[in-house]
Amino acid sequence: MKIISTINEIKDFLKDKNNIGFVPTMGALHNGHVELLKEARNNNKLVVLSIFVNPTQFLEGEDLDKYPRTFEADKRVASLCDVDVIFYPDINEMYGNDEISLKAPNVRGSILEGYERPGHFDGVLSVVLKLFNIIKPSHAYFGRKDAQQLALIKLMVDNLFLDINIVEVSTQRDKDGLALSSRNRYLSETDRLEALRISKSLKNATNMIMNKEYSVDVIKDAILNDLSGMQIDYVEIVSREFRYIEQVKIGDSLILIALHVNGTRLIDNMWV
Ligand code: PAF
Repeated sequence: MKIISTINEIKDFLKDKNNIGFVPTMGALHNGHVELLKEARNNNKLVVLSIFVNPTQFLEGEDLDKYPRTFEADKRVASLCDVDVIFYPDINEMYGNDEISLKAPNVRGSILEGYERPGHFDGVLSVVLKLFNIIKPSHAYFGRKDAQQLALIKLMVDNLFLDINIVEVSTQRDKDGLALSSRNRYLSETDRLEALRISKSLKNATNMIMNKEYSVDVIKDAILNDLSGMQIDYVEIVSREFRYIEQVKIGDSLILIALHVNGTRLIDNMWV
């Protein structure tokens, strides 16, 4: 497995390669990332993993400084997943001091995560486009847990006519139901128990839908009731294209939750 930190070197290494599967990450790898890497390994000749904690997607006051950086452990995970190259650039490699940046779309980029974290998606899209241009993958792998990020990256690929297949990979959960996230490391045991209320509320909502309750208002009320007392950013039900809806449509709906548990911001969702 090669570890490459400069753009020149990785471009040189990849210049005559094709069928590249790419998994962009910010490191602190967990089993969710392992699933992305497995998918990439099974479907491509070459697998490139990038590890870059992208400052432009963190807002003032967010956890950029304390975001877990675990490169030694990440290398072991990557090697077990049979990754060919880790691209591990530093900030100066990725950004200059007077930059053009992408702007997330006005509607789908400014609701939910976009509303709670203004500018976040501009940073995500800018870095992902840079990474796509450096790696030139045939396939790039993203988790469904970051559903809005995934939708906007697909939109970017469409809008900018990028020749890349975006592959969605389902959310991985711990045995108790907690969606895997690098930020789960911040949770104490008590926080974790509190955090489990999220996946339980999503499960209850799914049961309601299975029992033919499709009203968005009714389902949202039930979730808010399950989560009462928690510091909620949003509970929302939208179409898979991130349009507001009144009735859940099976196969085209998403239930999304974002909240804080003792200072840690968590998101989770259910694809209905
Ligand atoms: O999902 C993430 O880990 C990040 O948002 C990404 C896509 C690697 C961009 O920094």
